[in-house]
Amino acid sequence: MAMKRSFRTLFQLLTLVAVVLFLAVSLGHSQYGSGLLPVNPVDSRDAKSPAEEAQYAYSTRFPLLKESNETLAATAPSYLHAIMDPEDKTYPRLECPFPNPDRYASLKGPSRSKLPRYFFALDLHQCVGLLPRLIGSIVEAIKFLGPENCVLSIVEGRSDDGTFEVLKELRTEIQILGSRYILQTSDINPKIEGTDRIIALAELRNLAVNDLIQYPDNYDPKTTVVFSNDIAVCLEDILELVYQRVFQKADMTCAMDWTYVGDNPTFYDIWIARDMHGDSFFDIPESGSWDLAWNLFPNDDEAKWHLMKSEPFQVFSCWNGITAFTAKPLMEGKIKFRGHYEGECFQGEPKLFAKDMWYHGYGKIAVVPSVNVEYNNEAGKRIKTLKGYTSANVGEDLKIKWETEPPKLVKCMAHGYVDQQFLPWDEGLPG
Ligand SMILES: *[C@@H]1O[C@H](CO)[C@@H](O)[C@H](O)[C@H]1NC(C)=O
Repeated sequence: MAMKRSFRTLFQLLTLVAVVLFLAVSLGHSQYGSGLLPVNPVDSRDAKSPAEEAQYAYSTRFPLLKESNETLAATAPSYLHAIMDPEDKTYPRLECPFPNPDRYASLKGPSRSKLPRYFFALDLHQCVGLLPRLIGSIVEAIKFLGPENCVLSIVEGRSDDGTFEVLKELRTEIQILGSRYILQTSDINPKIEGTDRIIALAELRNLAVNDLIQYPDNYDPKTTVVFSNDIAVCLEDILELVYQRVFQKADMTCAMDWTYVGDNPTFYDIWIARDMHGDSFFDIPESGSWDLAWNLFPNDDEAKWHLMKSEPFQVFSCWNGITAFTAKPLMEGKIKFRGHYEGECFQGEPKLFAKDMWYHGYGKIAVVPSVNVEYNNEAGKRIKTLKGYTSANVGEDLKIKWETEPPKLVKCMAHGYVDQQFLPWDEGLPG
């Protein structure tokens, strides 16, 4: 009798242990979304840390669709060294000061959920010469913010200058740092005839943030996306945009981007950016001339004032080379990058993105004018010399007085610069 009872207890105990083990293994896997993958948990030769497991899942989920060119791959190591070592002088690059660590200390460290909370997204094409500066600064940001808190997601397309080969080899370096690295390749070509350029660009941007949309549970609910174009950017530029997003409780913060058409720089993202009067940042007459580009915010004295003082100010829409924004509406599946709806003004995907942000209650969108960027190293140096490096521009932090309502009318520039018209900000959206 006593014998029988202890047998039963032993049996129950063993069952319990088996159930607990089974749960531990399956929960451990689903946390990284790798439940879909054929991972054998008992093969100890293959034992992976959770971070390695996640990385493995990502490289399986996003297989590369092309092979390296061996000639180009041979030059990759010197680029990688330049990317990983800010002191490396092999390739010319915009020189950047090291930011004040105290100012940005609050951005460091793990989130409460212990899940990544910074998502760096880029679409890159044919820009190998920029990688030491651009990716170098992002790597510095990842090191500063804590690699385990960061994910780097890059979509490479159609490069034959070594951009792909360098980004492919970068995987190992980022893994060693301790961050997740998502590299995808795409053949989408926004410039090919017969393609809707905006839909192509929107698809490329969606690819870059795809993991956030598909696997939101792998990210902290308060994740910030830092989405960068192919610009010459400094670590302090990135940190300042993230800092202002937190300090201002902003949904989105943007830099100011510039282009040197002649001797003087002009604000670049004119087709996308709109101020709180719904107007473009400068006037372009129907002739398409940029002669009035020197006069920023001709009809918005408040924006003009803040710009002069390098203080952040609210806008209706911006992208401006680099932006930091809340991942929430993406993770909740509320918005995506898109082309215009039928009957809606033809406009760029970042402007539609801002419009959809407003529509879903994320209208705290601001320009941070202390951050000025250009699209190559040389011009980047010129613009920083002219407008000042970010650290030299930041003064006393003043809180933006947020407007809760968007401008009633927003300028549409559908067909080049002719037929510019002010349309209701939400035209084309469901009432
Ligand atoms: C590899 O790249 C080199 C240098 O750009 C080029 O000359 C060569 O044709 C490429 N090889 C292939 C197989 O595409």
